[in-house]
Amino acid sequence: MLKIKNISVTVDTPESKSTTILKNCSLQIKPGQIHVLMGPNGSGKSSLVYTLMGHPAYQVTSGTVSYMEDDLLEMSVHERSQKGLYLSMQQPQEVAGLQVLSYLKEIYTVHIKKTISVHDFVQIIRPLLDTVGLSESMLYRSVNDGFSGGEKKRFELLQMMLLKPKLCLLDEIDSGVDVDGLKLIAHGLQEYKKHNPDTAMIIVTHYRSILQYLTPDVVHVMMNGSIISTGQSDILDQIEDKGYEQYAKGAQ
Ligand SMILES: Nc1ncnc2c1ncn2[C@@H]1O[C@H](COP(=O)(O)OP(=O)(O)OP(=O)(O)O)[C@@H](O)[C@H]1O
Ligand SMILES: [Mg+2]
Repeated sequence: MLKIKNISVTVDTPESKSTTILKNCSLQIKPGQIHVLMGPNGSGKSSLVYTLMGHPAYQVTSGTVSYMEDDLLEMSVHERSQKGLYLSMQQPQEVAGLQVLSYLKEIYTVHIKKTISVHDFVQIIRPLLDTVGLSESMLYRSVNDGFSGGEKKRFELLQMMLLKPKLCLLDEIDSGVDVDGLKLIAHGLQEYKKHNPDTAMIIVTHYRSILQYLTPDVVHVMMNGSIISTGQSDILDQIEDKGYEQYAKGAQ
């Protein structure tokens, strides 16, 4: 469903110099697969998922990306979302003054292309709030404003469950959450996968804990802007044993 072929990506820095942050990355995902993307801080994991979602700061200078037979790079962020792409952000944006309920209802109605009453929408959102462990009073606060780290991540999961994406890009959905929060998120993802078996996921993570609940089909290691190793779960053992040092040579 997703074919990334040799993409290189630049970003404009404040000094207006264009810097290459991704080099020749390739990755293929089939429907229903769970891919894990690991790598040291600053290796380019978030840049890759931002690029896939269409963040305007990230310019693809070479290579191609096809998503369900379409040219992903030709699609606007809005179209990517409509076609089932979802990004759970590493650092979700706080938007003071934008009420959670209005925001969620708006993104939902745009996706289902129908209007819905507030009353009916609350019936839809209530069980999802329950699943992610957020209280109904959250609906009347501003988006992510003053949310704790764990609440922000659970709110990312809530949006995912509401929009029912086909390809989920989960950028450190497990970071900054406590043990109970991690279980909630992992069970939420498990449930989602059970009901939507064709949904594929790229899980960006630094930790193995979440992978006790979601078995990866493929594991990738990224270093210095390139995917330098792709394999099975045994890569996770190697990383735990020897760290990323072992890959450093290949990433120069
Ligand atoms: N918008 C940007 N402007 C300037 N530099 C950027 C931008 N986005 C990413 N970079 C740089 O690209 C490199 C890769 O960053 P990225 O956030 O993708 O790493 P990461 O692998 O997600 O790291 P972490 O594990 O810490 O989240 C870093 O050196 C970062 O500073
Ligand atoms: Mg990151």
